[in-house]
Amino acid sequence: MRAVRYHEYGGPDVLRLEDAPAPEAGPGQVRIAVGASAVNRMDIKLRSGAMASTPLAHPRIPGLDAAGVVDQVGAGVTGVQVGDRVFGAGSATLAELAVLETFAPVPEGLSLVQAAALPTVAETAGRVLSLLPGDPGAVLVVDGAAGGVGTILVQLARRRGLTVVGTASPAKHDVLRHLGALPTTYGPGLVDRVRALVDHVDGAADLAGEGSAGELVTLTRDSARVVTIADFSGATEAVVTDGSDGRSWATMTEVADLVAAGELELLVDTELDWSQAAEAHRRCESGHATGKVVLTLSDTW
Ligand SMILES: NC(=O)c1ccc[n+]([C@@H]2O[C@H](COP(=O)([O-])OP(=O)(O)OC[C@H]3O[C@@H](n4cnc5c(N)ncnc54)[C@H](OP(=O)(O)O)[C@@H]3O)[C@@H](O)[C@H]2O)c1
Repeated sequence: MRAVRYHEYGGPDVLRLEDAPAPEAGPGQVRIAVGASAVNRMDIKLRSGAMASTPLAHPRIPGLDAAGVVDQVGAGVTGVQVGDRVFGAGSATLAELAVLETFAPVPEGLSLVQAAALPTVAETAGRVLSLLPGDPGAVLVVDGAAGGVGTILVQLARRRGLTVVGTASPAKHDVLRHLGALPTTYGPGLVDRVRALVDHVDGAADLAGEGSAGELVTLTRDSARVVTIADFSGATEAVVTDGSDGRSWATMTEVADLVAAGELELLVDTELDWSQAAEAHRRCESGHATGKVVLTLSDTW
């Protein structure tokens, strides 16, 4: 099969489209002919070597999320057949064939690009919300609200009746308003800007990891009411979640159904052919995408 791979850690230009061995679906897994594969910030961290202590031993295919058509069903899998359109999460998804470990049928009305965009960010948004005060009327601050995780999290919180203050650069404040959040800018002075918008804060999500956790704890007056997915520095006692504490995969299908029904907006910042994988990684790596970056495998369709 053809796949995008890298042979050493580095910048986006280490990505190459080349031949690679096809994977096999193991127990509980499916293999799909990939139609679309999303780029996540984790793909960037893995490709750059930021998470590695030794050189890469074997060529690696990036990609955690994908959507496509099942072409092989692993032992013990029920309810899914060869030919079904599915989406989900696995590894090495930027390839003609990829194995998914967590998957679900693509709802009617959802494109493969939309479906591929969802798994990691929807799961993360659901997980973060499950760790925060969720009673209708509660007030949340979401730092980093215009990204892949933030745009989903804001909308889920609004659907549950919460008030949301979201941060983004000024050019994106209309986007945040459209999603139902009260916008403000990120960076130092957040406490005063938020207090100018709401009279109290019940919970806060740090989705950017850019040092706001301390101000978020000041706003909530309780570190247990601040959840971070991106600040692992331990500088505050905010709750850190990386998925090892449990996953919220049910949110993946919940969000997919809502998008298919037109009740939740999925923002795709950039859609490119997979031959432009390096450009897609550059866009994601910029840290300024509005929603998701997705690659399509048009030559396999
Ligand atoms: N722990 C976990 O389980 C988990 C899971 C998923 C993701 N993550 C991590 O969470 C982070 C966010 O993921 P994502 O997919 O949402 O990323 P993303 O889509 O790349 O986020 C981009 C957004 O971040 C905003 N941003 C940039 N600098 C900011 C700052 N200083 N303060 C606040 N917002 C800022 C940008 O807004 P502007 O363009 O307006 O600047 C942009 O809209 C990443 O570091 C990712 O690795 C962790």
